[in-house]
Amino acid sequence: MNEEIPDRDSIDRLGEEASREIAESPDLKALEQTRIVWLGRKGKLTSALRSIGKLPADQRPIIGGIINEWKERLGVLFENRCAELFGSCSDKEPYPGDPTLPGRRNWEGGLHILHRVIKDIKQIFYRMGYSIAEGPDVELDYYNFEALNFPADHPSRDLQDTFYVNSDILLRTQTSPVQVRYMEKNEPPLRIISPGRVYRNETPDPSHAAEFFQIEGLYVDKDVSLADLRNDITFFVHQFFGADAKVRFRPHFFPFTEPSAEADMTCFGCRGEGCSICQKTGWIEIMGAGMVHPNVFEFAGYDPDSVTGFAFGMGIERMAMLKYGIDDIRRFLANDMRFLKQFWNETWVGVQE
Ligand code: PHE
Repeated sequence: MNEEIPDRDSIDRLGEEASREIAESPDLKALEQTRIVWLGRKGKLTSALRSIGKLPADQRPIIGGIINEWKERLGVLFENRCAELFGSCSDKEPYPGDPTLPGRRNWEGGLHILHRVIKDIKQIFYRMGYSIAEGPDVELDYYNFEALNFPADHPSRDLQDTFYVNSDILLRTQTSPVQVRYMEKNEPPLRIISPGRVYRNETPDPSHAAEFFQIEGLYVDKDVSLADLRNDITFFVHQFFGADAKVRFRPHFFPFTEPSAEADMTCFGCRGEGCSICQKTGWIEIMGAGMVHPNVFEFAGYDPDSVTGFAFGMGIERMAMLKYGIDDIRRFLANDMRFLKQFWNETWVGVQE
């Protein structure tokens, strides 16, 4: 065909032949094949159109016009035949454009369980009037230890194994340094929580990780008391774990609070009866807390005689593990989709996030 110089009759013969083949195509697959043979890039009509260059100049627009008319007419015939065949199209041989096929779902991600737990915890404290404060992960020794009343050579520094960058700079071992940074820049009264990542030189095991998240809380005003601390923590525990959880405080030691306490809640495994989860005590430790030490106020530039305050700090992975029954802290960073997907059902990340 390529070699032939097209004329009106040969074009009409081609067109009629194509029309017949379209009408006789038995199914959508055959019809698509016919379309390629006639109208595809190397199809017979397309080649005919290409060879009109060999015609005398005055013939070209006439023959070209006839070919284009046929192309249009055949296009309509294809569409009609396609519509005719469509009803009988079997699922095994779907036409590429079959609109009855189920749509393809876009891949959607979900919130990481820790992200969600942080959001939930923040939400509870927002409702109590707390706002968010943040500080750097790479911290000065001054803010992480010294201004929190850990003297330079005090043995309590050994309580925390630290990743040091150099003698003055380290990866923060707690979110408590945010307390001091915030107080330096803001006047009381203040009520903040500071969520963030912390680092400790730990060998990872089911309950220890070298990096994890904490949330620190700080409330400073005139006449803030232990009763206020107890009230806010109890409210938080009831909101986060459920109203039937009981909370108790045990005396403890932290250099930056005095008095200091650890808060426990009733064990969810046995509801206080004693089981293997709580080592038969009926209680599970959930956070550290206490009244801000006067020395810390002094480091921050506050007058310890005119303000009081409380602080508390909790591990976020620990909160998530207790609430959702997760048995190993290392799962949070392992990125095993089978683990992560279990927590996607409540909060989906759509295009809007
Ligand atoms: N920073 C303490 C820790 O990491 C927790 C804490 C915070 C205790 C605030 C008391 C007050 O263990």
